[in-house]
Amino acid sequence: MSYNLTDGIDLPSFFTLTAFQTIDSTNLAARKLADEGASEGQVIWALKQESGVGRRGRQWTSPEGNLYCSVLLRPNVSAVEGAKLSFLVAVALFDALKPYLPESIDLAVKWPNDLLINGRKTAGILLESRSNNDGRLDWLIIGTGINIRHYPKVTDGLPAISLEEVGAKLTTDQLLKSYLDNLLQLYQLWKQEGFSPIRQRWLARASGVGGPVTVRLSNEQFEGVFSGMDENGALVLTLPDGSTRLVTAGEVFLPTYK
Ligand code: BTN
Repeated sequence: MSYNLTDGIDLPSFFTLTAFQTIDSTNLAARKLADEGASEGQVIWALKQESGVGRRGRQWTSPEGNLYCSVLLRPNVSAVEGAKLSFLVAVALFDALKPYLPESIDLAVKWPNDLLINGRKTAGILLESRSNNDGRLDWLIIGTGINIRHYPKVTDGLPAISLEEVGAKLTTDQLLKSYLDNLLQLYQLWKQEGFSPIRQRWLARASGVGGPVTVRLSNEQFEGVFSGMDENGALVLTLPDGSTRLVTAGEVFLPTYK
């Protein structure tokens, strides 16, 4: 009897889902399709990846049991504007996960684009894009890896955790559907109203607002109070002397997770 992975997954018509048992990387496959002219809404989903890619060229260990997917979008904006969609993705993932978690579990988004459970990384987001000659995006690939059953000992300096470890009961296809439903709703909101409502939603779900953080850049490290996120997606820090510093790249550590 033939068994189709996508059977029973009911997605909005915006999406075209292609599923694989095993793939090198869903982001790589989505990039190839994007360069071949595939339409916005193409989703690549795999049960297992053999060469999963994380941020900063890191490896993303991808055994069967977690969610690995990449979504192709073609927003007609600059690369800088498009990069802010990572916050939209974090909100879509947060809202997809929240109903499956016991009340006592602390789920939060962390700047720039991680999802934490009790301070431990449970999902990663990798955006890749190509621009046209006019500086506007040709395509944007949103890759997400969510630790449902497995997690590595350490990811990028942060301890990791799986959803199962905190008592969440869900399947990869349930999570895929909730995430994609949310993603589309937020994408439509963003197209109509811009980044502002996304920023508000992200801040309402963020860990450590108003508290101390340590920022690590390639050549310096400093402390400040996490005062917010501005309209450009920069982290707003209040420094000990009362001045404001905007952080557009770097690693952020919250006190208990250092
Ligand atoms: C991070 O480093 O935090 C981002 C990790 C992103 C991993 C996902 S898994 C699905 C997609 N395919 C990949 O090769 N990477 C992303």
